[in-house]
Amino acid sequence: MDRDQLIDLTRRALKLARDKTTDLMPTEYTVAADTYTSATHHFEDTAMLLASPQLVGYVSELPRPGTYATKTVMGRSVLLTRAADGVLRAFDNVCLHRQSRITEGCGAARRLACPYHSWSYDLTGALAGVPGKEGFPETSSGTPRLTELPAAECAGFLWISLDPNATLDIPTFLGPLAAELDSWGIGRWSPLGEKVLDCPINWKLAIDTFAENYHFATVHKTTFATIARSNCTVFDSFGPHHRLVFPLNGILDLEDVPEEEWEPLQAMVVIYALFPNIVLSCTVANGELFRVYPADEPGRSITVHQNSTPLDVSEESTAAGAAAVFEYAHSTVRDEDYALVAGLQANLESGVRPHLVFGRNEPGLHHRHSTWVEAVKPTARQ
Ligand code: FES
Ligand SMILES: [Fe+2]
Repeated sequence: MDRDQLIDLTRRALKLARDKTTDLMPTEYTVAADTYTSATHHFEDTAMLLASPQLVGYVSELPRPGTYATKTVMGRSVLLTRAADGVLRAFDNVCLHRQSRITEGCGAARRLACPYHSWSYDLTGALAGVPGKEGFPETSSGTPRLTELPAAECAGFLWISLDPNATLDIPTFLGPLAAELDSWGIGRWSPLGEKVLDCPINWKLAIDTFAENYHFATVHKTTFATIARSNCTVFDSFGPHHRLVFPLNGILDLEDVPEEEWEPLQAMVVIYALFPNIVLSCTVANGELFRVYPADEPGRSITVHQNSTPLDVSEESTAAGAAAVFEYAHSTVRDEDYALVAGLQANLESGVRPHLVFGRNEPGLHHRHSTWVEAVKPTARQ
């Protein structure tokens, strides 16, 4: 974001804080409880996600030629590589022999050997070695390759499609947010690993927890609410994506400071909701990424939480500090947000009330849900 944009957002946030209000939608928004519980919605949602571009990590997870990383997306294991030519590629992490996972985690290698019978693959996905080759005359003739998936780097992030025949056009998909997200640089910061939450909550319910700060004063009374305002959000949408600015408590101090001296990024947390299942939480010090996926039933989801830091983590104490910050953020989501909404999911499944309501003060929820409804409409009609 350029400075003019940041100053404008800060002015808007400061005005909301001063007026003790928040950006408001024209009306309330009612949602059927079965949005979060029905098998039909679960099926349609899963199809929507499978058909959507998937942000799977930071470009810094493949920092140089000769590196690889693995990701689990919607239960599928994906291998990402950056071969000697520097190009990002993605493959199903499925051995051509008996379908073992070829590798786990991330690292640097010229070739990857399957742990089962040691078939090896180079980082362009070509089968490079078969022990006891005479056993496989048909398979090893020609040029066998792993199944390649569309992959792209954009805005500092790694993107794939789970459909091998899809075309990825992420700059068009992100629109004006492509340049804005890139300007943060968080995808090039040092990655701090992944933490996984496998929880008894619908995937949309998980994402809902990031879409408003109305709950900060209650749910995060002793954590986030000590630094950020509650029920005070600047909202902007960008097609199917949106941005929320959560002002920090100190924003009111800017009243007495000339605008030229403002340091906007010290006064806010910026949350991006990327369609359909990604949340980014950005500050000057942390680039948090939440990848949220439906699991095997409507009432379960998997959240993969990542974080990146602009600090130099080659220093042991700095790395330990960054890891502690990540753990704090993660435990807050796990123990405060997700723990609370597990009870909400149970209530929704009990069928006691047919609807729930989003307030005018929860524009992120309005936007997420109206966008999801639009996206599954064509599937529903088939
Ligand atoms: S399953 Fe990979 S080598 Fe046998
Ligand atoms: Fe929360």
